[in-house]
Amino acid sequence: MKILTFGASNSKNSINKALARFTATLVPGADIEVLDLSDYELPIFSEDLEKEIGQPAPAKTFFEKIGSADAVIVSFAEHNGSYSAAYKNLFDWASRIDQKVFQDKPTVFLATSPGPGGAGSVLASAKGSARFFGVDLKAAVSVANFYDVFDVDTGRITEPSALEDLTDAATALAQREVA
Ligand SMILES: Cc1cc2nc3c(=O)[nH]c(=O)nc-3n(C[C@H](O)[C@H](O)[C@H](O)COP(=O)(O)O)c2cc1C
Repeated sequence: MKILTFGASNSKNSINKALARFTATLVPGADIEVLDLSDYELPIFSEDLEKEIGQPAPAKTFFEKIGSADAVIVSFAEHNGSYSAAYKNLFDWASRIDQKVFQDKPTVFLATSPGPGGAGSVLASAKGSARFFGVDLKAAVSVANFYDVFDVDTGRITEPSALEDLTDAATALAQREVA
C-alpha cells in the first residue's frame, strides 16, 4: 500500500512531518513516501497571477503525488489557530486543478503542536471542510505536547495513549485493503 505522508508545514524540522511519517510506519506493509512542502514553494495565490501563469508545476506535482498514492497521511501544523501559510497557499493552487484535491483517497488527518492544544483548532477546521475536497477521511487524531510524547532520536511515539490512537488510525487506513 503506497502511502503519501507530509506535514502541512514548510519547517525543515517539522514535528508534523515526523508524526505523519511515524504513523505511516504503523500501517502493515506500507510503502512510504514523505513529501517536504519546502520543495513545493509557490508565489502567493491570486486569481490575477493564475490568469498570467496558469497552473504552476509544483502544484501539479503535488496534485499528481496524491493521485498516485493509495492513501494519504497528513499532519497539520497550527499557525495562529489555522493552517500554515505554506500549506494553505499550495492547497489553494492545487484546488484550482481540481477542488477534490485529495481525489477520494483514504486519508488520515493528524495534527500536533508542542503545547497542550495539540493543534486541535486547525484539525477541526480540516475535518469540517474535508467533504468539499475529496477526502475519504478514515480517522483524525490530535497529539498534544509533542516533545513529551515523541522521542526525536528514534522518531517514535513513546506515550501509550497517543500510540494507541495512532495505531487505530493506521489500522483504519489499512482496512480498505481487506474490505
Ligand atoms: C506563526 C506561528 C503561529 C503559531 N500558532 C500556534 C497555534 O495557534 N497553536 C499552536 O498549538 N501552536 C502554534 N504555533 C507553534 C507551532 O505549533 C509549532 O511551531 C510547531 O512546531 C509547528 O509545526 P511544524 O514543526 O510541523 O511546522 C505557532 C507557531 C508559529 C511560528
